[in-house]
Amino acid sequence: MRTKIIAGNWKMYKDLAGTTELIAGLTSRIAASPARATVVVCPPFTSLALASTLLKGSPVRLGAQNMSQHDEGAFTGEISWNMLRAAGCEYVILGHSERRQYYGEKDELINAKAKKAIASSLRPIICVGETLAEREQGITDRVVSTQIRGVLSGLSRSDMSSVVVAYEPVWAIGTGKTATPAQAQEVHQMIRKLISQLYDWPTADATVIQYGGSVKPDNAAELLSQNDIDGALVGGACLKPDSFMSIISAAK
Ligand code: PGA
Repeated sequence: MRTKIIAGNWKMYKDLAGTTELIAGLTSRIAASPARATVVVCPPFTSLALASTLLKGSPVRLGAQNMSQHDEGAFTGEISWNMLRAAGCEYVILGHSERRQYYGEKDELINAKAKKAIASSLRPIICVGETLAEREQGITDRVVSTQIRGVLSGLSRSDMSSVVVAYEPVWAIGTGKTATPAQAQEVHQMIRKLISQLYDWPTADATVIQYGGSVKPDNAAELLSQNDIDGALVGGACLKPDSFMSIISAAK
């Protein structure tokens, strides 16, 4: 049985005061109604150390939204695995479609970051997903398979035990358009089958594959009840404790 992982991607929202308020709202709700899933919050870099302090004693885990593939050096504006670990992170989102779209991140770079994260005991949440044009051309499987092969290239079976895959159709992110549970399940099943071909069935069966893209309180339960959907990567709806909490509660 895979334990579901519900992760909140705060994106570029919340300063220190907003972080304090959102974490307080979330931890009090989870204390009152313990989650059956692993819950992860991914605030901006500037809020990580504060969030880590505020989360002491809480079951909520901490993640970052990006990471450098380098250990250290003259890389202005970058953040290393070591800095993330020191700030209390256990997870890091890699290859989010916004990083791919606005910052030119490609599978090869995402793969280098994933290798660095795993070597540093950070669990990478590696994002893949097709654009609307690609879905309309009927090449979703081809696009997502190419991404999966690229981002997992050179990872061993044991590396795979720390990998989380997030399938996020680009057309569903921040648009209010969600893949139907059947559409999402179909791609998740394809991803799991591909992982079984690249590794073996036990590895594929153990891999957590999250869905992301306009996950909301009213669609979470149906998405999360699909066989191959093992959690959610939540953007907009994670910024309010009530809506994030109802998505968390939808994970059985
Ligand atoms: P959304 O974002 O839930 O606002 O669509 C999801 C994501 O970008 O991870």
